[in-house]
Amino acid sequence: MCGIVAILGQDEAAPILMEALRRLEYRGYDSAGISTLYKGKLQRQREVGKLAVLSNLLVRDPIRGCIGIGHTRWATHGPATIVNAHPHHGRTVAVVHNGIIENFQEIRQELSDYQIQPSSETDTETVVLLCQYFLDQGLTPIESVQKTVSQLQGSFALVFLFEGEEDTLIAARHQSPLIVGYGENEVYLASDEIALAGLVKRITHLHDKDLVHITREKTHIIDGSGNSVERDQKAISIDLTKISKGGHKHFMAKEIYEQPKTLGRAIDKFQTYGAWLQPESVVNGLAEAERVELVGCGTANYACQVAGYWFESLAGIPASCTIASEFASRHRSPAPSTVGVFVSQSGETADTLTALRHLSQHHCKSLAILNVLTSTMSREADYVISIDAGTEVSVASTKAFTSQLNILAALAISTGYIRGHIDQERYQQLLTELTRLPGLVSVALNNDDAIKSIAKAMGHSTSVLFIGRGTMFPLALEGALKLKEISYIHAEGLASGELKHGPLALVDDNMHVVVLAPSGKLFPKIASNTEEVKARGGKILFISDSKGIEAAALGVWKSISMPDIDPILAPILYAVPLQLLAYHIAVHLGTDVDQPRNLAKSVTVE
Ligand code: AGP
Repeated sequence: MCGIVAILGQDEAAPILMEALRRLEYRGYDSAGISTLYKGKLQRQREVGKLAVLSNLLVRDPIRGCIGIGHTRWATHGPATIVNAHPHHGRTVAVVHNGIIENFQEIRQELSDYQIQPSSETDTETVVLLCQYFLDQGLTPIESVQKTVSQLQGSFALVFLFEGEEDTLIAARHQSPLIVGYGENEVYLASDEIALAGLVKRITHLHDKDLVHITREKTHIIDGSGNSVERDQKAISIDLTKISKGGHKHFMAKEIYEQPKTLGRAIDKFQTYGAWLQPESVVNGLAEAERVELVGCGTANYACQVAGYWFESLAGIPASCTIASEFASRHRSPAPSTVGVFVSQSGETADTLTALRHLSQHHCKSLAILNVLTSTMSREADYVISIDAGTEVSVASTKAFTSQLNILAALAISTGYIRGHIDQERYQQLLTELTRLPGLVSVALNNDDAIKSIAKAMGHSTSVLFIGRGTMFPLALEGALKLKEISYIHAEGLASGELKHGPLALVDDNMHVVVLAPSGKLFPKIASNTEEVKARGGKILFISDSKGIEAAALGVWKSISMPDIDPILAPILYAVPLQLLAYHIAVHLGTDVDQPRNLAKSVTVE
């Protein structure tokens, strides 16, 4: 997603803007730029590609000034070119933007009626030209921004810089996050806290429709009704030292290896609420639900799909799971007795937020399971449970996924016990399995070297199938996504029972098929699906426990042995070899593991 930074300070702004933009690289981008004000005049440098390219340009041709704005662009309207890169300039005003202006074509038409022609293909440039138009009509900077923003539809976090106004930054936010950071002698704006970690100690999260006028003397916030408001200041929650690779080559590797710790924290959090039946208000709310609607995107959606099986089998609650971006088109009119469970690492995913708002309009209670508690979703949901996985920097979600599953499993188990759907013995048995998970994941990580050599042999595959049954089917989808998003190899997750209904035609002796087969009730069926693949020459990577490997791994290409676990909770544990497989294939292929092409860590546009 695009990243925004801005500073109003005492020192040269350019190096500080670049450092803050480096912290936002994890969001994903394809071009970048900064603008400053020096002796009242706007200056700008923009480049396509990584920040290093922009840095080199700034060494050759620096820009001066103690006030500036910066941006990393994740292309939505128009390709990654210098002309489309932010900041966008009018004659005397500059702007950076995160979001999508949905009515930008109408604005373009309005501008052309005023004989104003944008030079780029972006929606953002129409914003700065509209602001320029109002400035030229004699409106003040704040009036021009208010007038401009009043005409915008869609999502935006905008920061404006004005020629001749060395002591003014004006910003507006609607559905795209924006925070104010208070330093010793400077004030910042940024898309998220990571950009300001180590630079400020206190921050303010702007609310939707807020507009802020920042000078060195004061920060004046105006809400959507035009009233001056005070927003809470809070200590920044991100410790810069935690945003390091911890000796690993990539953040993804670090975050995979953090899972024994993060899984332990997620469970401790539940236990600290008392004997597993907490947070009571949430669990009781779920226990009374007639239906659970699970909503998320990407990896979070797959966590929802696994949880759908759990709520139905462990809690006896009908559960539907919908991809957030499809939610609105389902024209659902859920009964108020439906509880919406929204899963999101960032808490800023626009599609998931839209679904949450839709369910809330139908008076359904909403539970958000989040990693970032200072997010929009944490403010809009009725209940929030933190997965407490720590900052996840790599675009590919790993530790957040397993912690999401952990919390969802604990919720389904607790709810099932309260509803009497599982008895005390089964309840204790499952909770014991959850507390064993950190140790089991540590054992699973011992497969790393074996998986690394398997990855080398798979590195030149053109397509890979992942198959599983029951709760392992959504995990097959997640395994395919991990491989696709960081190695750029096509992959498909399948319900293994579906193979013979078409996809088996894809299987020949070039096709790698990853089989997820923990021992348990479904094992015989997955074993026969494995035979179907074997009979067509498919190269099977068989992931199972020792019992399963003994029973069905004869004749497979490779196998990975996993520790025993209750099969219903196996997705949490079996995610680890899939993460390692995708990681090592990507490293072998030399892709940008932590910031894969075209992707963003948090997709704040629909
Ligand atoms: C997962 O590896 C991807 N980065 C992506 O699918 C992600 O899970 C999805 O965009 C949802 O993000 P969220 O959890 O922050 O809502």
